[in-house]
Amino acid sequence: MQDDVERVLLDETAIRGRLAEIGRQITEDYADEPPILVGVLKGAVMVMSDLARSIDLPVEMDWMAVSSYGAGTRSSGVVRILKDLGTDIADRHVLIVEDIIDSGLTLSWLLANLRSRGPRSVEVAALLRKPEAARIEIDVKYIGFDIPNEFVIGYGLDYAETYRNLPYVGVLKRSVYED
Ligand code: XMP
Ligand code: MG
Repeated sequence: MQDDVERVLLDETAIRGRLAEIGRQITEDYADEPPILVGVLKGAVMVMSDLARSIDLPVEMDWMAVSSYGAGTRSSGVVRILKDLGTDIADRHVLIVEDIIDSGLTLSWLLANLRSRGPRSVEVAALLRKPEAARIEIDVKYIGFDIPNEFVIGYGLDYAETYRNLPYVGVLKRSVYED
């Protein structure tokens, strides 16, 4: 598995340290009313696990699974819900937990969808953000790291459903997906 990694971008220490900072910030920001954390399956599993444990509030956790229709590796913004929330979020503070924002199309759709359910607020915490996303009009409250425009794997992120269990975020060798 390690042989397919071009280089390590963020090691375990860097990731844990940054998520601990964000967790402290969330603890302050939501002290009056703890949010429901909504993790986006499957990529956000590791982020949720570490971030939630860095928040010193009685948060709830729920999950959504969505699939983005698109040609090849680009997402189209047309999204289908594979698994919906088990929680009614009306009048609640919602914090979406994401692994990575690339074009931002998936997240835009998710924000609109959740906002239509009458929550008190909806904010986003994402571990990673690629350059394209930095240019679009999505207000992301908590960002772990801005990363270069390369395909990354590990810490929940996959290529063809593998590499999610790497404990760090790494750049995938082009030879793995290009012939
Ligand atoms: P958009 O473009 O809608 O896409 O922001 C976000 C989703 O695309 C996937 N994605 C990646 N997955 N390494 C991955 O493993 C990457 O470098 C990468 N870039 C985008 C991911 O599923 C994310 O939720
Ligand atoms: Mg994702």
